[in-house]
Amino acid sequence: MKLWAGRMTGDVDARLNELNASIGFDSRMIHEDIAGSVAHATMLGETGVVSREDSAAIVEGLKGIITDIDAGTLQIDMTAEDVHTFVEAELTRRIGDAGKRLHTGRSRNDQVALDIRLYLANAIKRIQALAEDFIRALCETARAHLGTVMPGYTHLQRAQPVTLAHYMMAYANMLLRDLDRLSDCLKRTRVSPLGSGALAGTTYPLDRARVAQLLGFEDIAHNSLDGVSDRDFALELLSDLSILMMHLSRFSEEICLWCSWEYRFVMLDDRFSTGSSIMPQKKNPDITELVRGKTGRVYGDLMALLTAMKALPLAYDKDMQEDKEALFDAIDTVCVCLEVLSPMLRTATFHPDNMRAAAAAGFINATDCADWLVGKGMPFRDAYGIVGQLVRLCVERGATLESLPIEEYRAVSDVFDEGVYDAIDLGHCVERRKLEGGPAPETVKREIERVEGLLAKAAE
Ligand code: ARG
Repeated sequence: MKLWAGRMTGDVDARLNELNASIGFDSRMIHEDIAGSVAHATMLGETGVVSREDSAAIVEGLKGIITDIDAGTLQIDMTAEDVHTFVEAELTRRIGDAGKRLHTGRSRNDQVALDIRLYLANAIKRIQALAEDFIRALCETARAHLGTVMPGYTHLQRAQPVTLAHYMMAYANMLLRDLDRLSDCLKRTRVSPLGSGALAGTTYPLDRARVAQLLGFEDIAHNSLDGVSDRDFALELLSDLSILMMHLSRFSEEICLWCSWEYRFVMLDDRFSTGSSIMPQKKNPDITELVRGKTGRVYGDLMALLTAMKALPLAYDKDMQEDKEALFDAIDTVCVCLEVLSPMLRTATFHPDNMRAAAAAGFINATDCADWLVGKGMPFRDAYGIVGQLVRLCVERGATLESLPIEEYRAVSDVFDEGVYDAIDLGHCVERRKLEGGPAPETVKREIERVEGLLAKAAE
C-alpha cells in the first residue's frame, strides 16, 4: 500500500511504479536515512513533540533495523517505493504505533535532502583519503627521481629539461587543489534542511539547531523553500569531481604515452597491465585508458544534474530524484580510479636512461645556451638568433649541441668558449633552475617536504 493511500483509491499502474520507484538506487543511503531519523526522533522527544517513551522506542527500533541490515538478517524490501518508505514501514512493523510518529514535522522532501547531504559528506571524506594516498604515491615517486632528467614539453615538442620528480609534483599540486575544493564543498554540504518540511516549514516547535548538532552539521538551511530544493552542494561536488577526473585523465594520458615504445619512459607492473587476445607481444595500459575514458562519465553526471535542475520551479519536484544516480555514479567512478592509480604508480618502473636519451636528443638545452651568451653580455634576442643557427647546423650534421665542436660554435660567434659545454650539460641545466617552483633537485626536495607536511597537517 502506498503512503498516500488515504487520498487515492486502488493500486497504481505497474508502469508508474517502475518509473517512480527509487529503492533500486537509494537503498544505499539506508545508514544515512536512519542516522537522520535518529536525530529527528531524539529532538522530537527532547522538545516534547512526541513523548520521551515513543522517542526512545523509535530510536531503539531504528538502531535495531540498522544492526539487522548490517548483520544480513534483514533484507531491504525492493518493492517499497524508496528507502524512506521502507524504513518507516519496517519500524512500524517492529514497534507499532510509536513508529507512525517518526514522521511528525517532517516530509520526505527535507528527509531526502538530508540523506543526500549525509551521504555526500561521508563520500567526500572517502574521496579525500584516496586522493591523499595518490598524492603520497606521487611524492614517493618524486623522491626516488629527484635527479632523473627528462624532457619537458610544450605542444608535445621537447622544450626544456625537467625531472621526473618535478613532473610528479605538478600532479601533486593539482590534487592538492582538488582536496581544497572538496573541503570547501563539505562546508556547504553539512547544512541541515530538516524542519523545512515539504516546503513551508512546520507548525511544530522543532529544535532545528539541535538536529544539526546531533548530526555534526555546522548550520541549518535558513529558508524552507530553498532547504528542500537546494542541490547546489551536489552540483559543486560533481564539478569538483569533474575537475579531479580531468587531472587523473591528463596523468593517465601521460602514462599511456610513456608506456609506448616510442617513449619507453615507464613500464607498468604485470599486475597492473593487460595483454591482447591475438598479439602476443602486447602489454597494454588499460587502467590509464579506462581512467581517461571514465572521465567522460563524470562530466556526463554533472551535465545530467545541471540540466535536471535548470528550470525547476520552487520547491521540490520529482525531477530531483535524478540527482542520486548521477552522484553515486560519479563517486563510484572517482573512487575506483583513485584506488587503482596509486598502486599502479607505486609498482611502475621508470626508465631514467630512456628519459635522459630523449632529453639529450631534443635541443632542450638551447635556451640555456642562449642564456650563457646573455651572461657574456649579449642581448637575449641576438643570442636567440645565434643558437637558432647552431641548432640548424646540428640538424644538418645529425649532431647535438653537446657534440658540436667548439670551432663550429666559434664560427657562428666568437663569444663562445669551452665554458659553454658546462652550461648546456642537462644535469646542470636542471640544477640551475632552483628558483621556487623550479625543477632543481634541491628545490623539488623542499616542495615534496611542503606537500607531505600539508598532508600530515590534514591528517591531524
Ligand atoms: N525518492 C524521492 C527522491 O529521491 C524522495 C522524496 C519524495 N518526495 C515526494 N514528494 N514524492 O527525491
